[in-house]
Amino acid sequence: MADPALSIVEDASSAARVVADRVEELIRGRPNAVLALPTGRTPLRLYDLLAERYRAGRIDFRSARTFNLDEWVGVGRRAPGSYAAFMDEHLFSRVNLRPENRAIPDGAATDLNAECAGYEERIREAGGIDLAILGIGRNGHIGFNEPGTPFDSRTHVVDVAVETRAANQWSFPDGRVPTRAITVGIATILEAREIVLMATGAAKSAVLRRMLEGPIEPSCPASALRLHPHVQVVADAPSAADLRSRTEAPGR
Ligand code: PGA
Repeated sequence: MADPALSIVEDASSAARVVADRVEELIRGRPNAVLALPTGRTPLRLYDLLAERYRAGRIDFRSARTFNLDEWVGVGRRAPGSYAAFMDEHLFSRVNLRPENRAIPDGAATDLNAECAGYEERIREAGGIDLAILGIGRNGHIGFNEPGTPFDSRTHVVDVAVETRAANQWSFPDGRVPTRAITVGIATILEAREIVLMATGAAKSAVLRRMLEGPIEPSCPASALRLHPHVQVVADAPSAADLRSRTEAPGR
């Protein structure tokens, strides 16, 4: 167990740049890298940068594979508000990731348990995740692993916390946020060879402190990342404001 590396940068754009740099470096060295990808507001600038770098010939996603962390239950792939639609809009339509190489749990599956087991199987068949990119919820969730989720959880169906549903209202045009989701588990995330967690904005300052300085326990799912040997936390200054141990990253 090693403490996560902490990079504190000035703002959300700089945070996106740090993570885009890591993705670029990884795919250059390993063109068939396997990434786990988040949704939400935090990665929007990152996806803009990845698209820009693809257009500029700096990143070639042709052989890369991606697994999204989660998806709403009961929401079809093309429905507004689905994470599949989010990923199409913000990343997949803008880069050369092959359709068969980009996986998202199917929230409209008739047998959700089989979908969850199959998703784990697909990750295994891909050789596991090289780099998992995560956001963090204000209650400490990673993916949709809400407080109380066991650290040994695999891909499963969850009841999404009330505060998490409220935080996602912006992405549903009718404001009706589903109550359940499929998420990869905490154990699934911890098996990634490398993890980068992005935190931006003052609303994440309290949870970032809990994650890094509080107890390692399921009441704060993100604290599980402290059990992993290769984690980088990329935080902008507002989200890092409450941390006791602040170290500024040079030159960003
Ligand atoms: P956000 O969501 O990026 O929209 O803040 C993060 C999360 O809930 O994981």
